[in-house]
Amino acid sequence: MKGLLAAVAVCAGLAGIQAAVAEEGKMQMGNHQHHDMSMMDTRISLGVSGPMKQHQLSNMREHVAAIKSIVGLMAEQKFDEASGIAHAKLGLTPDMQSMCGMFNNKEFERLGLAFHKSGDDLGDALQTKDMNASLRALNRTMQHCVECHATFRQ
Ligand code: HEC
Repeated sequence: MKGLLAAVAVCAGLAGIQAAVAEEGKMQMGNHQHHDMSMMDTRISLGVSGPMKQHQLSNMREHVAAIKSIVGLMAEQKFDEASGIAHAKLGLTPDMQSMCGMFNNKEFERLGLAFHKSGDDLGDALQTKDMNASLRALNRTMQHCVECHATFRQ
C-alpha cells in the first residue's frame, strides 16, 4: 500500500512537471507569434563566403563542444581539466585573435575579443575550484555567445 501510494505520488509529480513543460511550450509559441518579424533574419551579415564559412562554423562547433566538456568536468569536480579547456578552446589564443579580426567589422571584432577574454576569465575562475564563481563566469562567457548570435550572421 505504501508502495502504491508512493508510485501514485511520483506519477502525480511527473504529471505536474509535464503540465508545466506544456505551459512553458505554449508561452514560447505565443511569444513567437507576437514577433511578426520572426521569419526575417535582421542580423548584420558579415559577408562571409567560400572556405571561410566552413572554417568559422567548425570553430563554432568546437566552442559548443568546449562548453559541454567544461560543464561535464565541473559536475565531476575536475576543475583543473575544465580550466585547461577554457583557456585552450575559449581563451584569447593568437589564432582566435586573428580569426576575430578577419571580418572587417569592428563591432564583431570587439565582441569576439571580449568573448575570448571571458574564456580566459572562466579558466581563471575554474582554477579556484569555486563552483558558484565558475558558474557565474560560465554564464558571462555564454552571454557573449548569445549576444553575438543575436547580432551577426555569416
Ligand atoms: C563574436 C561573435 C560570436 C561569438 C562570441 C560566438 N559565436 Fe557562434 N556563431 C557566430 C556566427 C556569425 C555564426 C554563424 C551564424 C549564422 O550565419 O547564422 C555562429 C554559429 C554558431 C554555431 C552554428 C555552427 C554550425 O555548424 O552551423 C554554433 C553551434 C555556435 N556558433 C556556437 C557558439 C558558442 C557555444 C559560443 C560561445 C561559447 C559562440 N558560438 C560564440 C558568431 C559568434
